[in-house]
Amino acid sequence: MDTNNTILKIEGLSKSFGALKAVSNVSLKFEQGVVHAIIGPNGAGKTTLINLLSGELQPSEGSIHYKGHDLTHASPNRISRLGIGRSYQKTNIFPQFSNLQNCFIASQSRLKSSMRFFRPARRSKEVMERAVKALEMTHLSRQTERVAASLSYGEQRQLEIAMMLATEPELMLLDEPLAGMGSEEAMKIIELLKELAKTQTLILVEHDMDAIFAIADQLTVMVNGIVLETGTVSQIRCSQAVQEAYLGEEEDGECLLT
Ligand SMILES: Nc1ncnc2c1ncn2[C@@H]1O[C@H](COP(=O)(O)OP(=O)(O)O)[C@@H](O)[C@H]1O
Ligand SMILES: [Mg+2]
Repeated sequence: MDTNNTILKIEGLSKSFGALKAVSNVSLKFEQGVVHAIIGPNGAGKTTLINLLSGELQPSEGSIHYKGHDLTHASPNRISRLGIGRSYQKTNIFPQFSNLQNCFIASQSRLKSSMRFFRPARRSKEVMERAVKALEMTHLSRQTERVAASLSYGEQRQLEIAMMLATEPELMLLDEPLAGMGSEEAMKIIELLKELAKTQTLILVEHDMDAIFAIADQLTVMVNGIVLETGTVSQIRCSQAVQEAYLGEEEDGECLLT
């Protein structure tokens, strides 16, 4: 694979909670413009890995490099300013505020250092434009004034993605964006992610295999903190080791993940 295209590289990354190694010696490369999905059973370490990448957790061992920056011990704020955005497994919005206010706050909280030199009026115009654009991209622009608490669960997840987009990330970390959704709501988010995938790099933790097959290019399988296998979606979906370990089934020469 063309390593010049690597946007994020992790090497020997581990995170221990006491005696438990939630993430254990994980080395992966993420390519620019690629949707890289991460799957694995509950407790595999997927969310812990995302938390390490977003700076919410500090690694016990290993390194994280993003576009020439060493982010191994960087703060969530610095990571966000450098262009890595994240969404959470649980919704993370301000329920009493409108959609626009939520996106405005997100946009403002992640002012790039280059914007420090702008005058306050210009700055707030930029912040507002980013918030409005994020709502347009997530099809929420007809509901800018609606209070977030009154949105459906699926719309709240859409808003959360809008808040991430308002920070103008180059790389997006999405932790189970479809969790808890009905199929109609999930379809909307899948369409949105497909749209975003045209211009962004995505790291997507997801259980829904249909969604993964619709969106992802690369697939990593984690079990008990380790990477069981990584490769293109078509390579992994037929891998015997993955079939056995992840699905707990054994079947010769057949693709179970269809
Ligand atoms: N803050 C924490 N303190 C202690 N143990 C944790 C913490 N976060 C996660 N774990 C444990 O680490 C393992 C991996 O969890 P997690 O990364 O949430 O897995 P996944 O997202 O794949 O379901 C689990 O056994 C979980 O109980
Ligand atoms: Mg998780």
